[in-house]
Amino acid sequence: GPHGSRVTEGAPHPSYPFSRAAGCPFDPPPEFAGLREREPFSRVQVFDGTPAWLVTRYQDQRAILADDRFSADALRPGFPPQSPGLEARRKSGKPLSFIAMDDPDHNRVRRMFTAYFSVRRARALVPRLSEIIDGLLDGMEAAGPPADLVSSFALPLPSLVIAEILGVPRSDHHLFQSRTKVLVSRSASGEKSLAATNELTDYLGGLVDEKVKNPQDDLISNVAAAHLPTGETTRERLAQDAMLLLVAGHETTTNMIALGTLALMRNPDQLAAVRDAEGPAQIAGAVEELLRYLTIVHTGRRRVAIEDVEISGHTIRAGEGVILANDSANRDATLFDDPDDLDITRPNARRHLAFGQGTHQCLGQNLARQELQLAYPALLRRFPALRPAIEERDIPYKHDAVVYGVHELPVAW
Ligand code: HEM
Repeated sequence: GPHGSRVTEGAPHPSYPFSRAAGCPFDPPPEFAGLREREPFSRVQVFDGTPAWLVTRYQDQRAILADDRFSADALRPGFPPQSPGLEARRKSGKPLSFIAMDDPDHNRVRRMFTAYFSVRRARALVPRLSEIIDGLLDGMEAAGPPADLVSSFALPLPSLVIAEILGVPRSDHHLFQSRTKVLVSRSASGEKSLAATNELTDYLGGLVDEKVKNPQDDLISNVAAAHLPTGETTRERLAQDAMLLLVAGHETTTNMIALGTLALMRNPDQLAAVRDAEGPAQIAGAVEELLRYLTIVHTGRRRVAIEDVEISGHTIRAGEGVILANDSANRDATLFDDPDDLDITRPNARRHLAFGQGTHQCLGQNLARQELQLAYPALLRRFPALRPAIEERDIPYKHDAVVYGVHELPVAW
């Protein structure tokens, strides 16, 4: 093929990711149910022909994510890439951020950032988050319906928050938002995606320099002050990791806010329960269930075996790639009763794999939870009659992105 085929066996395997069924925008691809039942380790290939084991059951995914014989190093031979950007990155020789590193190196880097994303930090942010949320809702109310929920609320909230944590000036927000769009698209060419990466890391490298000269009380200033002089990180490394935080920190939560609101609007009694909830526990449960049900990071966690490993009697050979379909795991009926129903009272929703599992489990999960726990009820209380302002068939879902959601969502109230 045009990318140089790396298929090593006879017939081509089914292409992964699969498509969702028409008319089922909240459900993962229909193939998963049969695979979980009959072929929990199946062969697939990704866009460039790299073959991989597709793992669809919950328990098998947990076992693999907890096993250090699987590597997250995307540059290792056999690793099944997400998008053409990776090949361009491989050639560029730049460091990958810690999401693509293995322990102990991964943990040495991740540790520099964990304090900024603790439960305690997330709680301390509540007043500031509420202030941002109220300001955005005031803006929507003043402008009147209809409004695009994405650009007026779902995108600016997490973007403002992660930018404030890192210390990225507001005047530069358009730069990271537009480049992030390129980075999460599966169809952007390798060159385009490398260019976006370079623009962001050049920009963030400049920001590191600025904050070394003129430190403020923000993550980049503090990490630079604590870990540049000791050699634990470098200007390039820090720029790269800051980029991961910036991109992961707003694209995901944005899509959860918009798609989650849409899912609630499709389930009016559950929307009413979130809107009228008396205590935080009910809201927290609803957020976990929406994370499970929507599993917006929907193109699989990816790893490559570094030695032969047996999982549930199935052997994965050294050098073989694995794709852990967490959207399939989150609909596994051995763990979740009636898994295809949205049920905000589900007792074990929190066991979902929407944030991954193991050493790479989402660093931003406490922050994301706090944002979502405030955003949904605030939005629904401000606009109790919130509804989509376009037909279901016209809603532009992000079928082509690594993070699922909606490009825009016109709403009225
Ligand atoms: C990792 C999902 C919000 C930062 C991950 C992973 C998932 C995920 C599935 C695992 C990657 C893997 O195993 O390969 C989500 C979802 C979010 C969200 C669904 C929103 C609802 C955030 C936020 C931040 C963030 C707000 C802000 C800092 C990260 C980072 C990693 C990560 C840095 C890499 C951790 C590591 O490799 O040690 N996220 N995320 N995420 N997430 Fe999130």
